[in-house]
Amino acid sequence: MIETNHVITIRGLTKSYGATSVLKGVNFTVRRGEVHALLGGNGAGKSTMIKIITGASSRNDGDIRFFDNEGRVRSETEGRAKVAVVHQELALLPHLTVAENIALPHQRRGAGLFRRVAAARHAYDALRMIDQDFAAKSLYWLVGSLSLHEGQMVEIARALSSGAELILLDEPTANLTANETERLFTVLRKLTRENGLSVVFVSHRMKEIRQIANVCTIIRGGHTVVDRQPMEELTDAGIIERMGQVAASHAPERAPRSEYRSDASAATDIITIEETGFRQELQPGTVLGVAGAPAGPAALIEALTGTARKKRWTVARAGWPDQLRSPRKAACLGAGYVTGDRAHKGVLHNLPIIDNVMASRRVTRGALLAGGSEGGECLDLLKALKVKAASVWDLPSTLSGGTQQKLLLARWLGVPSRLLVLEEPTRGVDIGTKREIYQLIRQMAASGTVIIWWSTENVELLEVCDRVIAFDTEGRCAGVLDRNDFSEEKLVTLTGMAA
Ligand SMILES: Nc1ncnc2c1ncn2[C@@H]1O[C@H](COP(=O)(O)OP(=O)(O)O)[C@@H](O)[C@H]1O
Ligand SMILES: [Mg+2]
Repeated sequence: MIETNHVITIRGLTKSYGATSVLKGVNFTVRRGEVHALLGGNGAGKSTMIKIITGASSRNDGDIRFFDNEGRVRSETEGRAKVAVVHQELALLPHLTVAENIALPHQRRGAGLFRRVAAARHAYDALRMIDQDFAAKSLYWLVGSLSLHEGQMVEIARALSSGAELILLDEPTANLTANETERLFTVLRKLTRENGLSVVFVSHRMKEIRQIANVCTIIRGGHTVVDRQPMEELTDAGIIERMGQVAASHAPERAPRSEYRSDASAATDIITIEETGFRQELQPGTVLGVAGAPAGPAALIEALTGTARKKRWTVARAGWPDQLRSPRKAACLGAGYVTGDRAHKGVLHNLPIIDNVMASRRVTRGALLAGGSEGGECLDLLKALKVKAASVWDLPSTLSGGTQQKLLLARWLGVPSRLLVLEEPTRGVDIGTKREIYQLIRQMAASGTVIIWWSTENVELLEVCDRVIAFDTEGRCAGVLDRNDFSEEKLVTLTGMAA
């Protein structure tokens, strides 16, 4: 078979995990020089497909062919050598530097100093493509000390500079700001046009998919339901429908303000957050959105979760100490936290689903061992969040990324808390699940919890929150918008970031 413009063709791909069959005969073809959106709801099998292409997972059946640029079939080993991947959950070596993480996979020769210099050079050139400033300062930082979003840039730089002919990006923009995403897209457009690079792009953000992809394939129920259709032939609604999702056009039910009665004790329930020249009083039941580049929101969140090293923010509530000194202390006082770094700080990978779900309950109840009724409680929580798991004793790795996110939310669902801090809780979840999470947020607020929610997606903040605090790119608080003067333009102006 001679196919000069194909890089990979997949026919009849099947994959089961035990009794669950995920892929039931998927077809997928990528041509040279295209950006191909691979779409499907949470759990459709997108990450599974990507892992099978790279060889990280095995397949049960199906034909995978890689082609060279003359159209000759390559062996799978040769083909895979030309594939680079950015996994949904980052895969970096924490004890090595940024430069080493980017360059080492590509360096098989040289030793000592020469090798270190060459690695730094390579890494610098790679990082510079997406962020000049970050490239200039970060080469010798240990990857373990990076934030999630910096780690994401390192992974992307590594893939872009690998000399691969096919790059698989599994939700690469989930941790990036709008400006970084824009720069990534510029590089991708250049490499596809000039070098004939092919890109497979997984994302749930329709606007982004439209900006970057030429064609799309949609998988659903284990089958390819849309095979290589040009993006312009499909509407957003059409795509969502083919993914098997309902595009809810209505904002989630907003709990009427009166629902949380302010009685005599209400004054003591108010949480005040304060830094020099800035103060906000948060009534029980308020959903406060936090928008802007990571620096500002991160400092606020550290103060709220008891992890701040520098004292910049004060968080005050009657009965609370001056400062929340540790996450455990915060949890016991009723301040919950859902981390945005799901893979490294959220999910307990080696413990079963039940331990993942019950973790904060055990801390707040002071019971470290599983109690007798936990099994039932855990099942109820999973049911409320529509999580389908074969058993509560399975490991979280048997769930898709979006479903793992639900486990983290389940930790705080129904725990009577005063404050709940959410970091990008809808990162990497599909549209249907997003709707469910918005409902949950409003529901928890309606029971009197103050919700502080950082998101890089302005639209969702404006849809769900009562108030949004915006940080500028320097990490300073640039202003606060109230529900009645919400607008995307205002938020973009305040944060200094294109939406
Ligand atoms: N290691 C595994 N063991 C058992 N089931 C798994 C494993 N990995 C993924 N799955 C299941 O396969 C399905 C597809 O997952 P995934 O490929 O991550 O979906 P997507 O990336 O489209 O959200 C999910 O139902 C998930 O629970
Ligand atoms: Mg996935």
